[in-house]
Amino acid sequence: ESITAIIPAAGQGKRMKSKLNKQYLSLLDKPVLAHTVEVFQNCDLITEIIVVVKEDEIDYCRRKVIEKYNYNKVKALIRGGQSRQKSVHNGLQSVDNADYVLIHDGARPLLTEDMLCRAVDQVKDYKAVGVAVPVKDTIKRIDNDGYVAETPVRDKLWAIQTPQAFEYSLVSEAYNKAMKEGISGTDTSILVERLGQKVKLIRGSYENLKITTPEDLINAEAIIKRRQQ
Ligand code: CTP
Ligand code: MG
Repeated sequence: ESITAIIPAAGQGKRMKSKLNKQYLSLLDKPVLAHTVEVFQNCDLITEIIVVVKEDEIDYCRRKVIEKYNYNKVKALIRGGQSRQKSVHNGLQSVDNADYVLIHDGARPLLTEDMLCRAVDQVKDYKAVGVAVPVKDTIKRIDNDGYVAETPVRDKLWAIQTPQAFEYSLVSEAYNKAMKEGISGTDTSILVERLGQKVKLIRGSYENLKITTPEDLINAEAIIKRRQQ
């Protein structure tokens, strides 16, 4: 059976405040995005990889990441869109044959092969699976004036990470429907939930951080160094 990984890496990285897009900043020995792609390249369960990048970074990504490290499972480098949702949709549309797809942020270089295996294993039973971790902080919902409106019970709150794994037919239907109806969701899971499909969460790792602001790079380097020991 065929499992395609879609890696959206077409954002602007505004919160990183760096001239070079955050996906290409180096994390110890290689660019952030190379770390990410490498995990999929090395995992035998993954058939092929589609990387979604900004149109004007396609050549750069090909030279500095895909060819340089010989990630030969990367079948296509395709252009992204204005939103992550649009970028993922472009990725889904370029899949021509897959039973399952895994969607994983280019900016999350610290996922592990174990996490991938568990997601693939579980999606066969549940059709829609997301990796997440229990939140550590107490979360408040606020009203428009900045007052606390509600305090949800913490042990029922999980922070969503990626990868997310789906039956291909299910997730492509979810995206086509959302795009047609002009619906936008911050993560793929929401669009699948709208179809009435239950999404199973499995435990990720606090180390699976998303490189978003400069301190994330420092923390990521520390984690990689420790793993190398
Ligand atoms: N992404 C994408 N296409 C977009 C926006 C985001 O493919 N139009 C990707 C990013 O490249 C990233 C992932 O989605 O790997 C998660 O998004 P985020 O961390 O928000 O990255 P950016 O949007 O690039 O960063 P920022 O929000 O700070 O500008
Ligand atoms: Mg963003």
